[in-house]
Amino acid sequence: MSYHLLQKILFAMDAERSHIAALNGLKFLHRLHFNPFPNTIKDMHCNLMGLPIPNPVGLAAGLDKNGDYIDALSALGFGFIEIGTVTPKPQEGNPKPRLFRIPQHQAVLNRMGFNNQGIDYLINNVKKAKYSGVLGINIGKNATTPIENATDDYIYCLDRAYNFASYITINISSPNTKNLRTLQGEDELNNLLGKLKKRQTELSEKFEKYVPMAVKIAPDVDENQIIAMAQAIRHHNIDGVIATNTTIDKSSLGEHKLSNENGGLSGRPLTEKSNTVLKLLATHLNNDEHQKTIPIIGVGGIMSGSDVAEKLNNGAQAIQLYTGLIYRGPQLVPESIIAAAQHLKK
Ligand SMILES: Cc1cc2nc3c(=O)[nH]c(=O)nc-3n(C[C@H](O)[C@H](O)[C@H](O)COP(=O)(O)O)c2cc1C
Repeated sequence: MSYHLLQKILFAMDAERSHIAALNGLKFLHRLHFNPFPNTIKDMHCNLMGLPIPNPVGLAAGLDKNGDYIDALSALGFGFIEIGTVTPKPQEGNPKPRLFRIPQHQAVLNRMGFNNQGIDYLINNVKKAKYSGVLGINIGKNATTPIENATDDYIYCLDRAYNFASYITINISSPNTKNLRTLQGEDELNNLLGKLKKRQTELSEKFEKYVPMAVKIAPDVDENQIIAMAQAIRHHNIDGVIATNTTIDKSSLGEHKLSNENGGLSGRPLTEKSNTVLKLLATHLNNDEHQKTIPIIGVGGIMSGSDVAEKLNNGAQAIQLYTGLIYRGPQLVPESIIAAAQHLKK
């Protein structure tokens, strides 16, 4: 069945139900050893935060929040996979409806609110998965944890995820957890990163292996905030940055009825905003040729191979996909890999 037809069926369903149906369908096909893209480029020998990856096209966080679909998703050809956001305790997330498609804009609006089964459940899934590639675990805080105690939740998840992750993402940029984005403020960020770096060092000694840590940032930041974040990231020797999460700016939706709803917007309306942040971040983070480059993973509004090329041209070392997969289907993965291969050949 073509994705066009499948999309018609999926789009006729409620967005959250169709998300689960699509993932369960993918898992079913994977069990039947269905290989959708047998001719995808096998290994481009790339590197991300010191980790070898076959290609720089990754799955963004939030699609597989609990690590229930790791093996099925890896069969699509991703060079790396990020699961989560996961919190210490399981939580329901925000009341439904909380996920909306906006096809006229090739966009999604979500206010899921870190619905997840908790870190223990996720780790159990990671242990069961056969996937041996690069796996990022994206961590956050529970909604009931006061923002002043957010560090405790990140440390809790870091401790449990460390030995099972290829890298850890510190998510401080979801718009759907109250006050989370205040952690991007200069003092708050320095405080959080200082403590997490210290714990990473202790854990690397305990487990005798170094697991890199990346920070995921929002697109709703100005240049001064980007400069402050870049300084903090460098100062604390953070291994990578993921730019960006969804935007709270819905002006691009015009008069659309969802433009007044709470939540984060992703897909086509995010492309330009996310690219602006990426470009500024690359300029301010990696402006000293005597210092090692801190890799940036570009995510936000990639709907085609040419969007991949643009992210890489703007200073991303790797990219991640989410909303593009909903509108373009799994075919976007090989298309992105080919675009990345052409970019690297240049
Ligand atoms: C439904 C949905 C849920 C998401 N959940 C998370 C999440 O739990 N953690 C996170 O870091 N990002 C989450 N994101 C953000 C994506 O990882 C990505 O940064 C964002 O959607 C921009 O990329 P895109 O335009 O390709 O979708 C979510 C996005 C969507 C659409």
